[in-house]
Order: sequence, then C-alpha cells, then structure tokens
Amino acid sequence: MLQDVERVLISEAEMQKRIREMGAQISQDYEGKDLVVVGILKGAALFCSDLFRSITIPVELDFMRISSYGASTKSTGVHRVLLDLDYSLEDKHVLIVEDIVDTGLTIKFLLGYLGQRHPASLRTATLLDKPSRRKPEAAVPIDYRGFEVPDEFVCGNGLDYAEKYRNLRDIVILKPSVYSK
Ligand code: PRP
Repeated sequence: MLQDVERVLISEAEMQKRIREMGAQISQDYEGKDLVVVGILKGAALFCSDLFRSITIPVELDFMRISSYGASTKSTGVHRVLLDLDYSLEDKHVLIVEDIVDTGLTIKFLLGYLGQRHPASLRTATLLDKPSRRKPEAAVPIDYRGFEVPDEFVCGNGLDYAEKYRNLRDIVILKPSVYSK
C-alpha cells in the first residue's frame, strides 16, 4: 500500500493537532446546548471519531450514509439516504461531520434534508475542504474546517480510492500510476 503513495500532504500528527483545536472550538461554541454530531459514512467515520473524542461537553453521536446515483449524478447532486436519523431534531443543535467537501453537493443536500426537520441549529464541519472544486450552486457555509487542500487526489484517514487506502494514517497523494490504471 505504501508503495502507492507519492507524498504525504498532511501528517497524522498535524491532523490530530488540528482536530483537537476544532474540538476545543466546538466545545466552546456549543457549551450548554444539546449537541448531536452526525458523521457521514463511510469517509468521515475516522475523523468523526477523533473529533468526537476531542469535544469536552456532553454530546450525542450518530451517523448517516448517503449515496449519489452513480458517477454521473455526482455532478447533479441527486442523493439517496441509505442510513437516516430516526428521531426528532427539534431543539437539537446538529453538526454535520464530513471528511471532505469537494463539489459541495453532498453537504448542500444534507443541509436541505436535515434543515426540513427544524433543528435548533445546523452547522458543518469537515476535515478537508477543496474549494477549487466547488460548484457555484453549492457554495454552502463550512463552519469548522480542518485543512484546505489543492485539487489533487487525496486519500487516507477515511478517504478512499476505489474503497482502498482509508486505513492510511496520513492524508496522502497517490502516485498517478495508481488511478490511471
Ligand atoms: C465523499 C465524501 C463526501 C462527498 C464529498 O463521499 O465523504 O460525502 O464525497 O463530495 P462532494 O462535495 O463532491 O459532494 P463518497 O461518496 O466518496 O462516499 P464515502 O464517504 O463512502 O467514501
């Protein structure tokens, strides 16, 4: 697996430091509020577990899984909810946790979908943000951002290429030979 890595973009240590900072900020911002952290599977599972443990106030954890209908619909923003939250969000402060915001279409969909359930507030956190890829119609607010990344193929800490490399501890850039096969 390591032979497929071209270079490390963000080291595990750098990432963990930033995640602790994000957790401290979230703990401060939501003090005294009924917070639910919602990780979006599968990519955000690893970041979400680290961020969750960095939060020092009472907080609930849940997960959703969303799929877009095949490669072509990634650009149209048509999404299907594969795993949903099955309780009321009224009076709850909801924080959506993503591993990466790319075109922004997934987070835009989630903001609309969960917003219909009238949570007390609805915000977004992402480990990685790739703003150069954002679709103009998905210029959604990112409230907590770990790192801005360039438009390169990044993997590791939950992010995959063809379902592999999620277990790499660093955020890496793969050798072009891996994805041009
Ligand atoms: C990735 C990522 C986000 C989405 C971001 O999920 O986890 O959910 O794509 O892309 P967007 O901003 O262009 O919508 P993916 O569909 O690859 O599924 P996974 O998390 O299971 O790997």
